This record gives sequence, structure tokens and C-alpha cells, in this order.
Amino acid sequence: MKHVAITGASSGIGAALVEEYVSQGAAVTLVARRRADMEALAARVGGRTQIFVCDLSDLSRCCDWLAPAAAHFGPIDVLINNAGVQRVLPAAEHEDSDLDAMLNLNLLAPLHLTRAVLPAMLQRGSGTIVDVSSTAAYAPTPGMWGYIASKAGSGAASEGLGIELAKTGVHVLTVYPGPVDTPLARTGYAAYPDWAQKLLLTGDPRELARRICAAVELKQRVLIYPLPYALCRFFPGITRWLLRLIAPPVRSRHALPASTSSSPH
Ligand SMILES: NC(=O)c1ccc[n+]([C@@H]2O[C@H](COP(=O)([O-])OP(=O)(O)OC[C@H]3O[C@@H](n4cnc5c(N)ncnc54)[C@H](OP(=O)(O)O)[C@@H]3O)[C@@H](O)[C@H]2O)c1
Repeated sequence: MKHVAITGASSGIGAALVEEYVSQGAAVTLVARRRADMEALAARVGGRTQIFVCDLSDLSRCCDWLAPAAAHFGPIDVLINNAGVQRVLPAAEHEDSDLDAMLNLNLLAPLHLTRAVLPAMLQRGSGTIVDVSSTAAYAPTPGMWGYIASKAGSGAASEGLGIELAKTGVHVLTVYPGPVDTPLARTGYAAYPDWAQKLLLTGDPRELARRICAAVELKQRVLIYPLPYALCRFFPGITRWLLRLIAPPVRSRHALPASTSSSPH
């Protein structure tokens, strides 16, 4: 039975991935901080699951769950680096501690986890690393300063790793979601004016999860969803020019109602 480990499994895209992989008969390891949400999800989807509570932004502990997870379900066949937070606010309003936590979680924890599972995958000559980056990596949107740094880094590192491992049997899939309807997106986009939010083409997390599973099977290297956002990747110069012309202003966090503050959970 295939062992799939999913970080950020308590919500949004990660939760949809848990559901999709369980429905396909995989043994699934769920990793996030909110145990109750993961337990409720595991109970709803059935199948073979195990749960690890871990704050992945703590780099000294972010790999602690790997050994017990493998001891129970066997070596990890598919590692999905999905956990992430998004801070949307003017660059000058970022706080150092939030920047560090976001970079640790979005960029460095995936590198640490990948480094930890890679030797065994290389030895077996099989395995898949999935890195969930963001189209923000190549559509540098105002208000996403630190987030862009983390996602451009993770996307570039992921694609570079895929090239390095091309002949090893270990497959790397880099995923670039555009806006997808999850709590992260709903909170983040509240920082923009209503007109800008209405213009966004937004995808569905279950559809993205289905596409990620299919891309893993097909050994696809890059997945962009919703598909029209692929234009940003293939026309980076035009994307930046357009953003300079029409990018929406980002609201100061002092202008946001408390319920829509862009704080991570
Ligand atoms: N939705 C979009 O529009 C969009 C677009 C581009 C890229 N993405 C990327 O897609 C990924 C999933 O995002 P989502 O939209 O599904 O957001 P979400 O619904 O907010 O889910 C984020 C997940 O990350 C986990 N997480 C956050 N901080 C964590 C920490 N310190 N340690 C461990 N887990 C942590 C959360 O679990 P706990 O709170 O329980 O820890 C949650 O399960 C992220 O990497 C995000 O950057 C999303």
C-alpha cells in the first residue's frame, strides 16, 4: 500500500489531498498543528490514516514525525510539502518574527523534510516529492512581499531538484496554485479592494487535489491550477508590466476588520 505523507493536512488543499488519497486506497499520514481538525477529517474519510501534530515552522522539530510515520506505514512513497501560511499586508508592516515563521514554514521546512526522506528514496530508486509553491512566485503581487520570497524560493528549489534527480527514479512535482478557495485565500484576499477580489478566477481545492494525484501518477513535473494562470509563467515580463499598471492596492492591516486580519492560524 502506498504511503503518502501530507503536511498542512488539517485544512484547504491538504485536507482535500487527504480525502483524495484515502479514496484511492493509500495509507495517509496527516501533519499539522490542529489535532481536532485532523481527527475529524480522518474519521470522516475512513481508510488508513495516522496523525502527527507538529509545528513545522520550528525547524529543530519539523522532521520529528518522519521516523514514527515510516515505522507505522512503511517508507514514505509520496511526500507532499503543502503546509503554508500567507501574510498579505504592506511590506513595511511585516514583523520580523512573522517573516521568520513564514520563511521557515513555507521554504525551509520543505527543504529539511525533503533532505530527510531523499536518501531512502534514492536508495530505493523510487518516490515522489510534491512541493506546493504558488503562482505568486512569478506574479509578484503587492502585499505578498515575504510570501513571494518563500514561494519563489520553494518553487525554484523544487524545479531545480527535479532536474538534479531526473535519472534517479525519484520524481519531483512542483505545484503552482493560483487562487484556490480555502481559508488561506479568503483571509489573504480580504486585504484587497472588493473589485479586485471579484476579478480573480478562483479554483476548487478538491479539483486541485485530483489534479495533483493524477500528476503524481503521470510523473508530471509542473502543475499550474487554475490553468489560465499558466500565462503568468510563460509571459513573466508582461505579467510584471500588467501588475505595475493595474495591481490593486493592499490595505494596511490597521484598516482591516479584526475578523479578516491576515494572521496565520
Ligand atoms: N489557497 C490558495 O489560493 C493558494 C494559492 C497558492 C498557493 N497556496 C499554497 O497551498 C498550500 C495550502 O494552503 P491552503 O490554501 O490549503 O491553506 P489553509 O487552508 O490555510 O491550510 C494551510 C495548512 O497549513 C498548516 N499549517 C500552517 N501553519 C503550520 C505550522 N506552523 N506547522 C504545521 N502546519 C501548519 C495548517 O494547519 P494548522 O493550522 O492545523 O497547523 C493547514 O493545514 C500553502 O502552502 C499555500 O501557500 C494556496
